[in-house]
Amino acid sequence: MERGNFGKVGVILATAGSAVGLGNVWRFPFMAGQNGGAAFIVLYIGCILLLGIPGMVSEFIIGRHAQANAQRAYDTIAPHRHWRFVGYLGILTSTIILGFYAVVAGWCLQYLYASIVGQLSGDADYVTTYFQTFSTDPLKPCLWAVAFVVLTHLVVVRGVKGGIERAAKILMPLLLLLLVVIVVASCMLPGASEGVRFLLQPDFSKVSSSVMLEALGQAFFSLSLGTACLCTYASYFTKDTHLLASAGQIALLDTLIAILAGLMIFPAAFSVGVQPDSGPSLIFITLPNVFQQAFAQMPVVGYVIAVLFYALLVFAALTSTISMHEIGTAFFHEERHLPRPRAALVLTIVCSVIAVLCSLSMGAVDAISLFGMPLMAFCDMLTAQVMLPAGAFLTSILVGWFVSRQVLRDEFTNRGSLRATLFPIWLCCVRYVVPAGILLIFLHQLGVV
Ligand code: PHE
Repeated sequence: MERGNFGKVGVILATAGSAVGLGNVWRFPFMAGQNGGAAFIVLYIGCILLLGIPGMVSEFIIGRHAQANAQRAYDTIAPHRHWRFVGYLGILTSTIILGFYAVVAGWCLQYLYASIVGQLSGDADYVTTYFQTFSTDPLKPCLWAVAFVVLTHLVVVRGVKGGIERAAKILMPLLLLLLVVIVVASCMLPGASEGVRFLLQPDFSKVSSSVMLEALGQAFFSLSLGTACLCTYASYFTKDTHLLASAGQIALLDTLIAILAGLMIFPAAFSVGVQPDSGPSLIFITLPNVFQQAFAQMPVVGYVIAVLFYALLVFAALTSTISMHEIGTAFFHEERHLPRPRAALVLTIVCSVIAVLCSLSMGAVDAISLFGMPLMAFCDMLTAQVMLPAGAFLTSILVGWFVSRQVLRDEFTNRGSLRATLFPIWLCCVRYVVPAGILLIFLHQLGVV
């Protein structure tokens, strides 16, 4: 079966495109806001370094070794067939994530539209009410969410090289540039320094076991780790892709963008009096204020920057949803032998249904809830705090304890062409640090340790 390959730069950009998305710009700021700001960020960075990067390399190895979809990749590298269930778990997780993620991506589409037609101008109260009215509407957000899934579908059916790589190459650098511009604008608002302090001065008295689990979940969510997404993308890597360096670069870029997003949101939130712990609505009720107030002297510039920013947010979300969609599409195409467009259609239908239910649970239909949470919040919690850590835990047990050291070494060093100095350290992390770290955080949350 003919499979595409990413080019050299495309590898980093497409995988970074998967990692960088609403996780960084939407989820990270509101998670940090709800969990004490700087202290959360310190824990988050710890999770990225100790658990995230070694975990990424493990998934890369599994995918590139097999050059196949997630289920076959786990089958190929593992000694027993039951490890394929970790592949299935990844496919399931990414499908659920795509469902609720599309809802937020749909909100971004609406905000793009609203900023183009100038609906977002008004005081802080107006902007807050605007979000509440829109997000609890029974129809509009559902339509935008489904539109987003369909948009993803259209890119995915065009295949790996034509769609995914080309989009990522143009849009990622543009996003970074615009973020920096908005950070500067936000930090110049009156009273902004309070927000900068909130983000950079840790107060460890706020750290509890649940904050640790939230930081872990956020780190994995943001790196797209534990969903078999990295494994699927690595199956498109070439034999000379430097796995450790790629993981390091992607993690660095991902963290940088998350912190920039924080610096964009919190100074503005403090300046206009929006609570930092206002949850999923945080960026949607803060940003319109930044665009209006920071550029009050130059409304045209404010208008252009707002439109550009929402457009880029949509694209950042798209490069992530493409990766979630691709996991299932590759599976149905290669394992169930459906033609690629039909495989993609299966995913699109399932995810659209989840998206509509999640969207309705945000206020239009109160009954769509599980364990006392709206379905949307439940899916977010279930994936980030249970399924992603479980996927990463099982993957590290597989790679650390069951795969032959020779296979790992060959992949890690590209068959001996790279130095193996860091190989023992990485292996030690994968064998002990990653599983023990995840387990400890879980047990701590459950009150066992
Ligand atoms: N990492 C993406 C983001 O931060 C979300 C994602 C999760 C993508 C899991 C793929 C798989 O937005």
